[in-house]
Amino acid sequence: MRRALASIRWRLRNRFYLSYGMRGTAPINPSYGSELGTPIDRHYENRFLAGHRHLITGRVLEIGDRHYTEHYGTGVTMSDVLNICPGEGVTWVGDLAACPEVPDDTYDCIVLTQVLHVIFDMQAAVAEVHRILKPGGAVLCTVAGISQVNRGCMEEYGDRWRLTSQSAEELFATAFPAGAIDVATYGNALTACCFLQGVPAERVPQVKLDRWEPDYQLTVAVVAVKAPA
Ligand SMILES: C[S@@+](CC[C@H](N)C(=O)[O-])C[C@H]1O[C@@H](n2cnc3c(N)ncnc32)[C@H](O)[C@@H]1O
Repeated sequence: MRRALASIRWRLRNRFYLSYGMRGTAPINPSYGSELGTPIDRHYENRFLAGHRHLITGRVLEIGDRHYTEHYGTGVTMSDVLNICPGEGVTWVGDLAACPEVPDDTYDCIVLTQVLHVIFDMQAAVAEVHRILKPGGAVLCTVAGISQVNRGCMEEYGDRWRLTSQSAEELFATAFPAGAIDVATYGNALTACCFLQGVPAERVPQVKLDRWEPDYQLTVAVVAVKAPA
């Protein structure tokens, strides 16, 4: 009985979010739904990283913080962080687009989630990623495809670009061998609308979250591997 009531309540709340809540011009939640649950881009990011967790191993560099290294890494022997802003746990304070202080051929894996699109010179950043990866090392990257502006980021260090599968592939091809770049996209028209409205993933039925529509690229994800020595 209690379960049936909970299920009815969940369905009613969902109906509110997916219909009534979207009648106005302002979003239901301006913070990507983070106060109500998991933002939908984070849901896709988690799916991408969970599917490639075997690559998060050995000497790992994450840009921003080490959240995903800790969550998905296995057999991590070194966990470094590069961030343009100083802070606790940051190994390298610097700009990914020009970080000569980080030695060549250092990392087995670079976790680069939701960073590239905030950097003006993305091509220089990809070149640096390639330089500091070990031969045979991999970068796991996600960028925003369809997203509102992140006002906090824009004011602190920037929020500059939105990519498509095509521009992501072309961007990584400026540094990585063409056959070593794998681009995937996540999202569909419904999840894109929900994400812009700040409806969290928990309010969208799983089957709808999983539905892939290639022309609604909410999140663009790239795995690129540096040529072995
Ligand atoms: C939008 S947050 C993403 C953080 C984290 N990777 C994630 O997925 O939640 C961007 C992070 O990159 C850092 N950042 C911004 N511009 C950078 C740059 N040019 N070089 C290195 N780090 C940068 C910011 O300080 C921030 O920690």
